[in-house]
Amino acid sequence: MTKITLPKIKALKQEGRKIVALTVYDYPSARLLDDAGIDLLLVGDSLGNVVQGKTTTLSVTLDEIIYHAEMVVRGVQQSFVVVDIPFPFCQLGAAEAVRAAARIIKETLADAVKFEGGENRASTIAALVDAGIPVLGHCGLRPQEIRQTGGYFVQRESAREQLLRDITAVEKAGAFAVVLECLETALAKEATNLLKIPTIGIGAGPFCDGQVLVFHDFLGYKPEQNRNPKYVRQYADLRLTIFAAARNYAEDVRQSIFPGKEHSF
Ligand code: KIV
Repeated sequence: MTKITLPKIKALKQEGRKIVALTVYDYPSARLLDDAGIDLLLVGDSLGNVVQGKTTTLSVTLDEIIYHAEMVVRGVQQSFVVVDIPFPFCQLGAAEAVRAAARIIKETLADAVKFEGGENRASTIAALVDAGIPVLGHCGLRPQEIRQTGGYFVQRESAREQLLRDITAVEKAGAFAVVLECLETALAKEATNLLKIPTIGIGAGPFCDGQVLVFHDFLGYKPEQNRNPKYVRQYADLRLTIFAAARNYAEDVRQSIFPGKEHSF
């Protein structure tokens, strides 16, 4: 088993190999995804939505993301682990961002941080890189700006010029790769061709250098049926599996079928 390092992640684009990424938030899940050969594991601030049941990522704290990331890192031997810098540490300027990111790296031993922001925050990315902290950029739809944008909208042709300025600035500032969230396919393709660093898409079509999905979306691990965004392919139905297992267990206990002799001392 060999650890996936930063140079290996960067080299995948040159080698024409796709980067496979998933979000993850706990130890057993991280161990399974690591064993399955997922290249990059992201402890995303989507934690707020899919684990904490909130409507935005905004309330996830630095302590919470560190708590989850530390568990994830403990379960990983090979995958490259990236941790989101939660709101508002990308927005508060270089000193606060470096302090937050340094805590993340020091207390979790993760490999890198993810940073939401484009042209307007490129100097903060440069400060992080200068501090020796690898940065995965995040452009396109930026959930931490939901209060400004008023919703989770697909980035279309009208957003093209700003998007190209954002990704170029993020690359120039030293990010090793950039997540492109919810872009029209043509735009994501143009962005991917423009950059030397890899792009990792989510809702950005098939032409990015890699793909990321949220753990609970791709496994159907959520209380409501059919609540996935259009860009998700669901590879399992944990909602049904868990529901059926819980019903069977309840029935067995109520009928005195479980525990049986084989479970007793
Ligand atoms: O927080 C997260 O899970 C993310 C992904 C959607 C890329 O930022």
